[in-house]
Amino acid sequence: MPDPVVRIRGLSKRYGDFTALDRVDLDVVQGEILALLGPNGAGKTTLISIVAGLVRASEGEATVLGRDVVRDYRFTRRAVGLVPQETNFDPFFTVEETLRFQAGYFGVRLSPDRLEEILHALDLAGKRHANTRSLSGGMKRRLLIGKALVHEPKVLFLDEPTAGVDVRLRQQLWAYVRLLRSRGTTIVLTTHYLEEAEELAERVAVIDRGRILLVEGKELLMARRGGKTLRVSLGAPIPELPGRLAAMGARLAEGGCAIDVDAPSEGSFGPVLAALAEAGLPIGDVETRRARLEEVFVSLLGDGAAGGAP
Ligand SMILES: Nc1ncnc2c1ncn2[C@@H]1O[C@H](COP(=O)(O)OP(=O)(O)OP(=O)(O)O)[C@@H](O)[C@H]1O
Ligand SMILES: [Mg+2]
Repeated sequence: MPDPVVRIRGLSKRYGDFTALDRVDLDVVQGEILALLGPNGAGKTTLISIVAGLVRASEGEATVLGRDVVRDYRFTRRAVGLVPQETNFDPFFTVEETLRFQAGYFGVRLSPDRLEEILHALDLAGKRHANTRSLSGGMKRRLLIGKALVHEPKVLFLDEPTAGVDVRLRQQLWAYVRLLRSRGTTIVLTTHYLEEAEELAERVAVIDRGRILLVEGKELLMARRGGKTLRVSLGAPIPELPGRLAAMGARLAEGGCAIDVDAPSEGSFGPVLAALAEAGLPIGDVETRRARLEEVFVSLLGDGAAGGAP
């Protein structure tokens, strides 16, 4: 495996007696989109802020491109782009000035092409001369994303980038995030919109009360935890399941008008379909349904609570 772009080992953060992060280990791989998911107060923003050099860890270390975020702050700060959860603009500047000053802060020249690309990707071209004070909430959030991109960071942290962004623009932002990734940017995303993680991420890390509960490929996680269900709608209700189907774990649903079968952990629905055909049931429709990431996530956090974490 190649060296991770971000490497986090034994990272803890305490505020007085309170432990916001508890010995976190995490690797972010070159070119991936990793979704960092967790409930309010889990430690997501704290973790990102440490890697971005805004918060000091109490223990442990974090490196970006092999360089320590504390010792090599100047290097790592330049390699990282951060879209913070909270908006923070100087209210006296326009959209375009804000982007230019941000580039200046990093000592890079914002080329006219790059400026146009950012303004258009974030649908802010019409507001380029507007004062940031006059932007709507969603526009401010988009400008935050633009600010994080001006210095072409290798690693982009998006802390709830689409909170308050409307549906159409959210999809436009997703497309832009994918474009950045295709150009080699590594992306870490936090979000409470699970469909956003489902849409964008290749891997998912779940954090709760400062601890990483799991890091796993999204497809694998959803296959392992979420599974697939086959639903067979029947033309007419049946009073009882044929024995062979019941033995395969099938159950009646919709008052006897449908049969649900969970996908076997290995193999296919083949035997189930054969048993259905053999039973001669009046089959109206067949569909498969996949658990959403949201359901998987909720069940994971449920497990965490049941595990009795201190
Ligand atoms: N400066 C601080 N002083 C004291 N406690 C803090 C400080 N910053 C964060 N915390 C606490 O650390 C915990 C983690 O906060 P953090 O902002 O990282 O959560 P989060 O996962 O980003 O949550 P959200 O989804 O609500 O954004 C919270 O309990 C928070 O109150
Ligand atoms: Mg947060």
